[in-house]
Amino acid sequence: GPAPGPASGAKAGSGGRITMGFAQVGAESGWRTANTKSVQEAAKKAGIELKFSDAQQKQENQIKAIRTFIQQKVDVIAFSPVVESGWDTVLKEAKDAGIPVILTDRAVDTKDTSLYKTFLGSDFVKEGRSAGEWLTAAYANQQGPVNIVELQGTTGSAPANDRKAGFADVIRGDGRFRIVASQSGEFTRAKGKEVMQAFLKSQKDIDVLYAHNDDMALGAIQAIEESGRKPGTDIKVISVDGIKDAFVAMTEGKINVVVECNPLLGDQLMDLAKKVVAGESVPARVETQEGVFPQDKAAAALPSRKY
Ligand code: AHR
Repeated sequence: GPAPGPASGAKAGSGGRITMGFAQVGAESGWRTANTKSVQEAAKKAGIELKFSDAQQKQENQIKAIRTFIQQKVDVIAFSPVVESGWDTVLKEAKDAGIPVILTDRAVDTKDTSLYKTFLGSDFVKEGRSAGEWLTAAYANQQGPVNIVELQGTTGSAPANDRKAGFADVIRGDGRFRIVASQSGEFTRAKGKEVMQAFLKSQKDIDVLYAHNDDMALGAIQAIEESGRKPGTDIKVISVDGIKDAFVAMTEGKINVVVECNPLLGDQLMDLAKKVVAGESVPARVETQEGVFPQDKAAAALPSRKY
């Protein structure tokens, strides 16, 4: 048989270890930082060599990173697509090179599902629905109108598209609820604050803020306070993610509810990576379990929050 040597196997260059190329979105939010840490720690634990790239929220950077990973002949590529569309070409390149791809956290919009092996992450539509369900319950038996402003995540991203759609779907049937302004705050504190300042100027009556993530909510809270209003009271605040800072803000009465989105995907990702590299079959979709935390549950939950 063939002599075992450096050229005898796909993984020979790394001494038999699996090499993963991971193209991260950026470092836009507390959620993202926790996600990156989880992936890095899990790779170390699993003995997987990680090539990590930060795309700074730009699709072109992610595409470049994926092409570099293909050239480097990594064993598996995992990435969290910054936006949903425009991936077919580069994913086809990975497929032609025989490198399996795992979508992590965010999905892509493609008709060709053979371009990736599996998706690991959250049901963002469900998160949006949970936000809407909290709102309709909170305003049961109250008179309208209820004026809502919405801070959307990164334009074109799966979490922004889906959280918007899920929420809209739930409130649609009830004429009291009106989204009076909706704009992207790019999932960051700075932009969340800036856009909220603009909302506060342009809208006379704001009852509710729905922010697609905690960082934008926390930025917006500063804007609300600077305008002399009380976040959580004068303007109800609904947010998504569940980072520690948001739980602290809930205990201070400044956020009314947080819909959880779990960033700690590292261990599951490494398990899936080992399986796809070994040619084993994996489920088409692996979803994370998540909860909803209203303000009165925040103090009890805070000590055990892991991100
Ligand atoms: O894709 C997940 C989203 O990305 C998180 O909710 C947000 O905080 C992050 O930037």
